Amino acid sequence: MTVYLNGQFMPIDEARIPVLDRGFIFGDGVYEVIPVYSRFAFRLAEHLRRLQYSLDGIRLTNPHSDQEWTELISDLIERNTAEDQYLYLHITRGVAKRDHAFPNPAVQPTVFMMSNPLFTPPAALLTSGVGAISAPDNRWLNCDIKAISLLPNVLLRQMAIDAGCAETILIRDDNFMTEGSASNIFLVKNGVLLAPPKDNLMLPGITYDVLLEIAVANSIPYEVRKIAKEEIFIADELLLTSSTKEVLAITTLDNKPVGDGKPGVMFAKLHKHYQDYKRDVMRKT
Ligand code: PDD
Repeated sequence: MTVYLNGQFMPIDEARIPVLDRGFIFGDGVYEVIPVYSRFAFRLAEHLRRLQYSLDGIRLTNPHSDQEWTELISDLIERNTAEDQYLYLHITRGVAKRDHAFPNPAVQPTVFMMSNPLFTPPAALLTSGVGAISAPDNRWLNCDIKAISLLPNVLLRQMAIDAGCAETILIRDDNFMTEGSASNIFLVKNGVLLAPPKDNLMLPGITYDVLLEIAVANSIPYEVRKIAKEEIFIADELLLTSSTKEVLAITTLDNKPVGDGKPGVMFAKLHKHYQDYKRDVMRKT
């Protein structure tokens, strides 16, 4: 696997960062995950816009223009063999003597990128759906920043795994659902797709936007509004979205079936439209 680190492409085994990197010491950095279909980065402009938003959120100057990112990213895609890849971009505040305050004067940020083959969920998982648990959302108040400091998300995801499930659906103290530990969550009730509104408590998912665009384009009724905890337990369907999972049905919640316990009609529709969209937009050649 060829990766990019601070201006150079190299085999992953040769990529090294100093132990005083603020990403390592403080988790002081941001990241992006970008799917690549047929060697084209999906919604690159939107991912780069979100990256800029995250960098602004942690007051770190973007080390590259969008043009430079685009060139580096196409170079990385070319140097890796899979047709479908997922790209990981990671920028930290750089290497400096350990001090919580920003290095002054600022130091060069660390820029790391890697690509892995993208395996979207297999047919069996699309047919069965996945299990989820619910848990209090105990993260910070800037979940709209795609920060590399992911310890709460890691612990919340592991809770799901320990319970034999795939995802943890998060509920804030105000009783409203935010998102999953590494995905956005949608509900379906009486044929209407329900999405929580974007705010500082959730990551504005690129796949979330695609799903709502698909709903508009196909006259699927939808509402963007706050979703109370109680509603997720009486939903007809629950869906999760992310760049690597695309859209998946959640068929159990806290060990109880969601709806009839099978992926529902809304899931089938949205998944099909998502695949059509991907094919039409990304695989034109
Ligand atoms: N995570 N919410 C959280 C907390 C996430 O970590 C992610 C994605 C999403 C979905 O965003 P998008 O549709 O843009 O992928 C929502 C990525 C895949 C990850 O951390 O690996």
